[in-house]
Amino acid sequence: MMNAEITARAPATLSNLGPGFDSLGAALTGWEDEVRILLTPAPPYSVEYDVDGVWSGTVEPNENTASLAAMEVGKVLGYTGGARITIKKGIRAGSGLGSSAASAVAGAVAMNAALGCRLSTQELIVPSLIGESAASGVNHGDNVLPCLLGGVVVLESGDPMHHAHVVVGNRLHIAVIFPDIQVFTMQARGVLPEFVSMTDTTAWASRLGLLINAFNQGDIEQIGRLIMSDRIVEPRRATLLEPYQNIKNRALLNGAMGCALSGSGPSMFAICDNESVAQTVCAGMKETCERDGISGTVQVVEINLKGAYIV
Ligand code: HSE
Repeated sequence: MMNAEITARAPATLSNLGPGFDSLGAALTGWEDEVRILLTPAPPYSVEYDVDGVWSGTVEPNENTASLAAMEVGKVLGYTGGARITIKKGIRAGSGLGSSAASAVAGAVAMNAALGCRLSTQELIVPSLIGESAASGVNHGDNVLPCLLGGVVVLESGDPMHHAHVVVGNRLHIAVIFPDIQVFTMQARGVLPEFVSMTDTTAWASRLGLLINAFNQGDIEQIGRLIMSDRIVEPRRATLLEPYQNIKNRALLNGAMGCALSGSGPSMFAICDNESVAQTVCAGMKETCERDGISGTVQVVEINLKGAYIV
């Protein structure tokens, strides 16, 4: 049974969280992409942007990830018609907050609902990843999985079908800044080394393990320390954001427990133990970023346990 127009929304996500490159991500409250799908009797799948979306102007229609994910759902379900897809961008492209993943996930969820909800949430992972990989050039699931499933998710890098929710034993207040420059994932992966040493790999694995344990324990101080413990990816990417070190220093000075890049940047996030500190940290990060010549948008958010949903 086919439905008329269906609307789905999917949240912004933090990914990597320090030592969890391609294997750890968290869904956030605060920003969402929305995708509306109206089935049409025959192909193609057409795409337009809703001008009411604050960031709808940041993506070209042919660069969208929602239609690819929707088409993949259609293919799996043997659907031979077309669709009119409208995307309302609430998450800026190239922000490091999982913008392409959110559109892909919302596209997959909306299409599945339009076709009668015949795929389970788990079965929407692959179509969403296919949509997202068009933007990043690789199949990394650390934005797609938390976006779809909600919460904090750890996954096997390279095989995101093996994943688990991470229990978060405390309420986290997360100060986020997205500086007004775009860094695209493909570009930010280009600065990474092809090989890393045994010593670095061992340290990295142990830090990720300790970070998961700190989440479970709700140990905000240790979460903060460990998100700053990556010595392989983040130091190289920091060079793509000039105010990186100043923003981080200011966040720590203002009481954050830790501060790191979100995904491939340029967004940064800081873990705080209460709302009032998080507000102060946001204000300081914004002021510092702007003093270094780049405007920035800030918001205090929390972990979003719901993930993507039908409106
Ligand atoms: N794990 C991915 C990366 C996330 O760091 O390249 C991209 O937002």
